[in-house]
Amino acid sequence: MAAGALPCLTTLLLCLWAPQAWSLVQRHLSAPVLELQPQGRDCSHIWETNSSAPSGVYVIQPEGASTPFQVLCDMREGGWTVIQQRQVDAEQPLDFERCWQEYKQGFGALEGEHWLGLDHVVALTTQPGRRAELVVDLENRDKLALQAHYDHFHLGSEADLYRLHLGQYLGNAGDAFHGSGQVDSQEGSPFSTLDRDLDACALCVEDTHTFSSCSLDRMGAGWWYSNCGQADLNGPKPQHPYDPPSLLWGPNSHAQVLSSSVMLVHTTSVP
Ligand SMILES: *[C@@H]1O[C@H](CO)[C@@H](O)[C@H](O)[C@H]1NC(C)=O
Repeated sequence: MAAGALPCLTTLLLCLWAPQAWSLVQRHLSAPVLELQPQGRDCSHIWETNSSAPSGVYVIQPEGASTPFQVLCDMREGGWTVIQQRQVDAEQPLDFERCWQEYKQGFGALEGEHWLGLDHVVALTTQPGRRAELVVDLENRDKLALQAHYDHFHLGSEADLYRLHLGQYLGNAGDAFHGSGQVDSQEGSPFSTLDRDLDACALCVEDTHTFSSCSLDRMGAGWWYSNCGQADLNGPKPQHPYDPPSLLWGPNSHAQVLSSSVMLVHTTSVP
């Protein structure tokens, strides 16, 4: 295990002993905005109503969702709802070492680094009469833009462990979610966190160390780990030159050094 595992174990103890108390000290973006009227079902729906609407924070209420909530809309062609945003060199980097409860509810500040929250993503991607797709926008150190597009995307409910379901891949970033198509594919994988190890790794071996929890190996990151797979955009800041980078996308963790990631959802109404 990496030498920096100590803060991670502290987080695990907090997760297990006082999950609610731990959540309270974190900054939340998921507080219900009952006083605000939803401006649409999601950013795509808002864009359909007015394609000149600017990018920014909006209040949405997906079809079937019980309460409205705030999201960051990227109003490029079609209108896209941001579900994850990461900037590796942020001045005050956001901690992605979090418990299940926080990955469920969301954390961070919408304009900056954040995780929208699994319950919101379920609501967004399982709307009756709307089909969702996913874009992963990445940028490497040379400012080269890389993109992975999946023509279908939805998550299972919490009872179904927020399992990842993806359609066909298109793009220039590589299909890291499906990996080699074998055991490293994350398609159908449940979500795992430090306090809920649901990955497909019973005894994983990487370089010189063995481990059984991908989240623990990644310092408490939450993701749809298989064993562990080729994608992880919620990883920790490397502590040593030989640690894998925060943003993993592809077969070789050191091949592509990425500086930012944005995950965006677009929905289209289906007859
Ligand atoms: C669409 O949005 C733009 C930018 O906010 C605004 O100026 C315009 O009035 C809106 N159009 C309609 C029809 O609401």
